[in-house]
Amino acid sequence: MASDKISRVGIVGAGQMGAGIAEVCARADVDVLVHESSRDLVTAGRARILRSLDRGVSSGKLTEREREQASCRLRFTSDLDDFADRQLVVEAIVEDEDVKIDVFRALDKAVVDPDAILASNTSSIPIMKLGMATENAGRVIGMHFFNPVPVLPLVELITTLATSEDVSRRAESFAYDVLGKQVIRSADRSGFVVNALLVPYLLSAMRMVESGFATVDDIDKAMVLGCAHPMGPLKLTDLVGLDTVKAIADKMYEEFKEPLYSPPPLLLRMVEAGRLGKKAGRGFYRYDAAPR
Ligand code: 3HC
Repeated sequence: MASDKISRVGIVGAGQMGAGIAEVCARADVDVLVHESSRDLVTAGRARILRSLDRGVSSGKLTEREREQASCRLRFTSDLDDFADRQLVVEAIVEDEDVKIDVFRALDKAVVDPDAILASNTSSIPIMKLGMATENAGRVIGMHFFNPVPVLPLVELITTLATSEDVSRRAESFAYDVLGKQVIRSADRSGFVVNALLVPYLLSAMRMVESGFATVDDIDKAMVLGCAHPMGPLKLTDLVGLDTVKAIADKMYEEFKEPLYSPPPLLLRMVEAGRLGKKAGRGFYRYDAAPR
């Protein structure tokens, strides 16, 4: 049985989710190596994490010293072979099955320890498909975090038909004992628990806008004031990213063939127009400030 102590983690991708996962790992005293595919993306990813650590200091959640310690635990690379000594790697790249499969194939070769865990933060791609891209599907698992990762306490843990008991136990212990997250388990079905419930709700809100049923502002106001949600569905779609919501909906529709998962034309047109939400400066709302 492999050692329980995971102290060297790799994160593939430093976008919203990858940066957030890297940050919570570094804040939990873990050595973190972050991969991005180019130097420019490494620079942007590092800046994203440092901005969030600064925000932690300004909101009083972190001391200056804790910020310095966390940033010292973060290193960056654009070569996946540098992940050779990692005990856990979390892939958090674009929600594209073919691209993820390529990354899992590469990680399987790069990460030397056969007991090292290869996890995906996918929202909707069945983990079994990623496991089958490797020679050892027993070490592949889903660890699904929520945005903003430093704020939201949940991790969905998804084991496949092949994931070993030991991998599942160590991944849960890492999320709970080291990162301080709450863990729920889901079967390996596209969307898992949260997105299977959340995505139809987001798509329904878009259909309401599309049909002129209510305005963007009123729909969001309704759910904030009427149901005490922290933000309404259209603002949340902007936060997650319209391209990401579309990619998740496409995968869930492919799996279940249920019309409630089918992306409405308004979502397709907005993605085509580049109105991808907060990260693009425009989605259902406009954003002036740089994305955080
Ligand atoms: N990083 C770190 N901390 C952040 C943050 C970030 N990106 N964004 C907000 N925070 C912290 C703030 O520092 C603040 O902390 P404090 O209360 O101790 O001062 C707290 O969160 C609240 O922030 P704000 O006052 O700036 O703003 P809000 O009160 O409007 O909260 C929010 C912002 C935390 C994003 C809140 O609106 C929220 O929780 N929204 C729902 C988010 C959600 O549902 N996420 C799940 C998306 S689905 C998903 O991720 C799965 C994927 O597969 C699609």
